[in-house]
Amino acid sequence: MKLVKYMRNWSLSVLTASCMLSSCDYLDVVPPEQPNLPDATSTYERTLGFLYSCYNGIKSVDPNFNGYLHEFNSSTDEYTLPYRWSSDGIWDDYAWNTVTANNQNWIWGTTYQFIGQCLLFLQEVEKMDQTLIPAGELDVWKAEAKFLIAYYHFITLRSYGPIPITDSYIAMDTPASDYNGRYHFDYCVDWIANQLDEAAAVLPAYREKTDEWGRATSVIAKSIKARLMLYAASPLWNGEFPYPSWKNTNFETPGYGLDLVSSTYDSGKWDKALTACKEALELAEGAGQRELYDDNTYYTTQQLSLPYVPELSDMQYDASIDAEAIADRTAFLETIMKLRYLVTTRENEGNHEIIWGNWNKDNSGLYATLPHRILKLNNGTWWNGYSGVSPTLNSVQNFYTENGLPITMDEEFYDESEWFQPSAYTRAHTNDAGESVTLRVANLHLNREPRFYAWIGFDGGDYTSRLHDGEPLKLEMRNPEAHGFSEGFNRDNSATGYLSQKFLSPKIEFNKSGTGDWGNSYPAIQIRLAELYLNLAECYAAKGDVENTLKYLNPIRKRAGIPELTNANITEDMSLTEWVRRERSIELWGEGHRFFDVRRWVEGPKYFGAGVRKGLNAGVKSPTWEQFYTPTELPHPFVWTNRMYLNPVFYNEVYKNPQMVQAPEY
Ligand code: GAL
Repeated sequence: MKLVKYMRNWSLSVLTASCMLSSCDYLDVVPPEQPNLPDATSTYERTLGFLYSCYNGIKSVDPNFNGYLHEFNSSTDEYTLPYRWSSDGIWDDYAWNTVTANNQNWIWGTTYQFIGQCLLFLQEVEKMDQTLIPAGELDVWKAEAKFLIAYYHFITLRSYGPIPITDSYIAMDTPASDYNGRYHFDYCVDWIANQLDEAAAVLPAYREKTDEWGRATSVIAKSIKARLMLYAASPLWNGEFPYPSWKNTNFETPGYGLDLVSSTYDSGKWDKALTACKEALELAEGAGQRELYDDNTYYTTQQLSLPYVPELSDMQYDASIDAEAIADRTAFLETIMKLRYLVTTRENEGNHEIIWGNWNKDNSGLYATLPHRILKLNNGTWWNGYSGVSPTLNSVQNFYTENGLPITMDEEFYDESEWFQPSAYTRAHTNDAGESVTLRVANLHLNREPRFYAWIGFDGGDYTSRLHDGEPLKLEMRNPEAHGFSEGFNRDNSATGYLSQKFLSPKIEFNKSGTGDWGNSYPAIQIRLAELYLNLAECYAAKGDVENTLKYLNPIRKRAGIPELTNANITEDMSLTEWVRRERSIELWGEGHRFFDVRRWVEGPKYFGAGVRKGLNAGVKSPTWEQFYTPTELPHPFVWTNRMYLNPVFYNEVYKNPQMVQAPEY
């Protein structure tokens, strides 16, 4: 197996990266010398810099919430972006089926470039003066490169399906007839899993030194393996791939011939996934020192008040009679704060849930989330967000009720005919435009679960704790003088009438003097412990093991402040697997999983098809209550066709490599 491309610019990137870590003394040489490859491993620091350069691809191939124009985030049914933003990025192409072999997010180009970088690192460290690196340390560095090679293959596989495996570095003059084609999907999975196991055997489970956080650990490697094996056991790759006749033309995978994807169900894939998911969870909670974040009091150390929840906060209680009800209310509101901090704090703030964080985070992603007209400054101008990240009505309806049930299945919840009616709860408010208004919420937004109040912003509700000059921002999603639709906001209007407040530090605060504090700084989440619970629960559900499914699902529900599921909840109306999938879609909302989850479940038409995604009627200026609260199809031409299960490869890959076959229907 061979590496044949993407290697041309190695010297520049290696030396740039190593110079970021140490002073660039090669520039001081007079007359200047050309850096050459051995320089990259000539000192301890340079070698470490070379290793760091191998990590550099992650931020572009595995973005998180701040990459709001990225298809993984914004082409799903979790949220959408304003229709007019379709000229930005190509998120829309992935939702509208307009991706082509020469117009797409070419992740493959980046992953193979960095696979090459890792292979080059492994090759060069063999030749270097081994006494430069303390005994044992170099073995870990090599295991990191091995992990990254496996990781970049996984990232390629999850978007492109069967892919070439590149496990050695070879000369650039290799004839095209020797290029690798795609290997059978199951072969790729086994190969990647094996690499991850080998890396994990050498990597530390936990990194004590804070400057090493973000670097590979055995827990990260086993967690990626768990995700890989879960994907591989899922319907798309376990008998339901919609193009059973798609094959290679001349490139053979050992043991598989020209086949690329198996078209028969294999229950053994679930056994392997279960073993991998269990191993990852046990390691994470053992030597990895991970635990579900469950700090109900962190908000108090941050001097924050409890949030407003309509009805619950409006109720008048008599402490002498209703002590229990008051305690329940406090616990509910504290859970909301905890869930906000779950995704916005880090290790040294007591959050031991994050398994892998990514510092690729900038505030422009948060501007896309924040509403328009956050605050009128003393100088009369407005501090504005872009009102872009627009949770769909589908997502809003998907969150559970406070009883931990779907809104359609909870007998205590409103009948569908009442969802969009105004509730009895009102608040008087004077907004920054100087208007006296009455805030009111719809029934749909009452009696919902804490994750809904933690992460979603809705008309008449509060948004974060201190954003508006030390107070929560009061959302007026119908008012063009506040956060509602206005032509004056040009392209920046919420497409659905909802906003996200997930990933906003509860402490975020803008002041009338024009100063801002973005609150706690924290890495974007790539893997957190809750995923490992949900992965394992999904494996047990696939095997029909109710007891163990509930065993791993219920800790997530308990932490979210909703009742645990029992056998009685598993009915014809909602199967065990449906409960697991729904919990996953709620818990991991907006965290980059949905794009792949819906695909691997072969549920593209159900969730991503034409006419499925809805919002409130948010494109009308100053709508009446009835106008606004009318479920409305979005103007975006969402569509699903089965070819969208895979990304096409760049046309040149097929053109220059006689072994390469294009994905079906591209
Ligand atoms: C910027 C624009 C913002 C917002 C953003 C969305 O160019 O200034 O108002 O629309 O694009 O990506």
